Amino acid sequence: MSEWSLIYDQFEPKQQGLREALCATGNGYFVTRGAFSWVMADETHYPATYLAGGYNRAPTEVAGRVIENEDLVNMPNWSALTFRIEGGDWFNIQAVTIETFRQELDLKRGILEVEVRFRDKQNRESTLKTRRLASMADMHLAGIEMSLTAHNWSGRVDVMSGLDGRVINAGVKRYRDLNSSHLNPVVAEPFQNPDTGETMINLLVETKQSKLRVSQAARIRVVSNPHAFQAKSATEGGEEGYIEQTIHVDVGHGETVVVEKLASLYTSRDPAISEPGVAAREAVTHAPAFGRLLHNHERVWAMLWDRCDIIVEDGKKIQMILRLHIFHLLQTLSPNTIDLDVGVPARGWHGEAYRGHVFWDELFILPFLNFRLPAIARSCLRYRHLRLPEARWAAFQSGLKGSMFPWQSGSDGREESQKVHLNPRSGRWVPDNSCIQRHVSLAIAYNVWRHYEISGAEHFLELRGAELILEITRFFASLAHLNPQTGRYEIHHVMGPDEYHEAYPDKEDEAGLNNNAYTNIMVAWLCTVAMRVMACLDATHRDELMDRLMVDERELALWEDMSRKMIVCYHDDGIISQFEGYENLKEFDWEGYRAKYGDIQRLDRILEAEGDSANRYKLSKQADVLMLFYLFSREELSEMLERLGYEPLTEERWQTNIDYYLARTSHGSTLSYMVHAAVMARSHPEKAWQLFTQALHADIDDIQGGTTPEGIHLGAMAGTVDLVQRCFTGLDVRDGALHFDPVFTDRMGTLKLKLRHLGRWLDVTLGRDEMTVAAHRSWARALTICVRGEARELLPGESITFRLSHPGEDPVAAD
Ligand code: BGC
Repeated sequence: MSEWSLIYDQFEPKQQGLREALCATGNGYFVTRGAFSWVMADETHYPATYLAGGYNRAPTEVAGRVIENEDLVNMPNWSALTFRIEGGDWFNIQAVTIETFRQELDLKRGILEVEVRFRDKQNRESTLKTRRLASMADMHLAGIEMSLTAHNWSGRVDVMSGLDGRVINAGVKRYRDLNSSHLNPVVAEPFQNPDTGETMINLLVETKQSKLRVSQAARIRVVSNPHAFQAKSATEGGEEGYIEQTIHVDVGHGETVVVEKLASLYTSRDPAISEPGVAAREAVTHAPAFGRLLHNHERVWAMLWDRCDIIVEDGKKIQMILRLHIFHLLQTLSPNTIDLDVGVPARGWHGEAYRGHVFWDELFILPFLNFRLPAIARSCLRYRHLRLPEARWAAFQSGLKGSMFPWQSGSDGREESQKVHLNPRSGRWVPDNSCIQRHVSLAIAYNVWRHYEISGAEHFLELRGAELILEITRFFASLAHLNPQTGRYEIHHVMGPDEYHEAYPDKEDEAGLNNNAYTNIMVAWLCTVAMRVMACLDATHRDELMDRLMVDERELALWEDMSRKMIVCYHDDGIISQFEGYENLKEFDWEGYRAKYGDIQRLDRILEAEGDSANRYKLSKQADVLMLFYLFSREELSEMLERLGYEPLTEERWQTNIDYYLARTSHGSTLSYMVHAAVMARSHPEKAWQLFTQALHADIDDIQGGTTPEGIHLGAMAGTVDLVQRCFTGLDVRDGALHFDPVFTDRMGTLKLKLRHLGRWLDVTLGRDEMTVAAHRSWARALTICVRGEARELLPGESITFRLSHPGEDPVAAD
């Protein structure tokens, strides 16, 4: 186990899908799964490349009706590179005897290496080695270096490189009945370097509905051996949408032949190009050699790690997994993403699960970026802002005001959630009401506000953020109604984050629940934030915005009233009810079901297959009420409840609510472990640590049994890193100061990380007994740092060490 590498030392066909997702290489513009370069899609392997935001819509007839889905498209496979010896079969790892195998994803350098020493049927012993990267430095380029060592033979080797646009979307078994053909072939032809005459290949395809043109070009060169024969390109007789090129080379006994493939990728959406075909051909013609490409790529990764690494001394495995999570986050959203119009895909650009859609998961992902690479976080929020017209239209069509963002978003921001989904356990297509999770808009507003608080980006607030917040507040104000009997505002027919409750058991044909506590309390919070936003804007911007959105004093008064009078339901002495009437549901037989099924994470599917329904029971897929405990400190939440006229959230009530809901949660979403770990870090450290460990292993061990091969869980990955960054350090931005209140100092070893607050960089070192916060010299002014209530002014270039007390000791600040 290395702190910087994910290593596998055996080839295990059954694990390939998982490894392909975990070893994907990408650069925030595209991601290529870590399939071997020599394979085609089959039961074991699934080479696939996805473009950030590369969607296409396609209709399918399901259960008697036509449904339309927008999918993240599996783009042509640029990485096809294989060989054969003496005109034999093309290399197949399953047809040779493997002597040694090693696959290493080098997180520091962003390279995937595979090395296989094998003996073939002719008893020839060879070592094959490939190194691959998707350039972080030049987002349009990717490369593979392949070397073959002939240990006990000599002879002719053919190396074949292909660009394969015959691919379909076949990465998720459950979707196989759905239309999976998204590409039309346009061009597949060789071309020459006008100066050198070198032959290269080019492929152009177009997505069927969204008309996105995607061009790839590739060149191969033998770089080790002067006895290389000129490359031959073969297109004749080939299928449409495919082109390949072959090189012949003589290898001597004991010699190693090294071949490199450089590929370029452009689309018709790229700026500063004439046409993607021209751009791709020119890019690959001018591309540097693999070594130089690698060098530039490593340099950018070094810069990213300098900002983003979280160092956990004494925790090798934790360290590697945290880096793996940061790595995939940065491969999905990188500086290359900033000028693209893309959101935060729940499953990365690593697979086809959830069709590459954007949910509310950015709530768990943006905090990491806000504190380091705020420009990327801002570009994700811009994706939302650009879709305000669609969200306004959606609200209008529902008879509401403001902007209603979709639960699942893709290219243009319309609702992309399925109307029906397949329960693989029962084989039935069942109605899917998940789109009534209106809280997705609350997550967007929350992200805007936190982004502003952490980065201090006033321009962003003026240009986009304030409009998003006001439009979302307006939406919820129109969704809510005043109950004249209670004098409180209510919201009906929605779902909270817990997807196991879609309706009341006696009214299953009427989607939604009333007064979901998470939604209602977040709305009250949002109403106060909307007023704070107004106060933050200068008079000119405020007046312009109010004028443009036609916000008047009456509307502001309504928001103020809602901030004090949203209803929150309680039961069982101080337990916040997940929704009105929750207490009438039946308790669930957890032990019985565990004994019967073992894995009961997906209780919705189990119960549906039994002809029952999760709606009937007190059970949750993931945190719902406890999401409030995750997003706010006890003090903040208590203040919010008091403002609403409810009892304060005492320490005791905080704990009883946690115990109550934790005992009724199946963790059917990977987000669940991480959220519960954060919530319980202070009150239940043992349990929290166990949940943190489970969250860390969610993808690397595919604990949901088959979901990770379909795409990583970006929310859970980023969430675990954020857990260390914010929850373990107790980091909080309040009243312009940075507050820390660390936990787990005895378990993590020394923790080191960098944070950026209001544009200023800080180095934080957290040990068992002390915490040091150092400011970079470039600062203009002092910042207030507060560790466990001890506030100090931190000046540019200075550092402060705070002693951390343990039970019975007092905190003392020491320089
Ligand atoms: C979770 C949602 C999440 C979605 C995408 C679902 O299983 O319940 O909260 O947004 O996955 O990650």
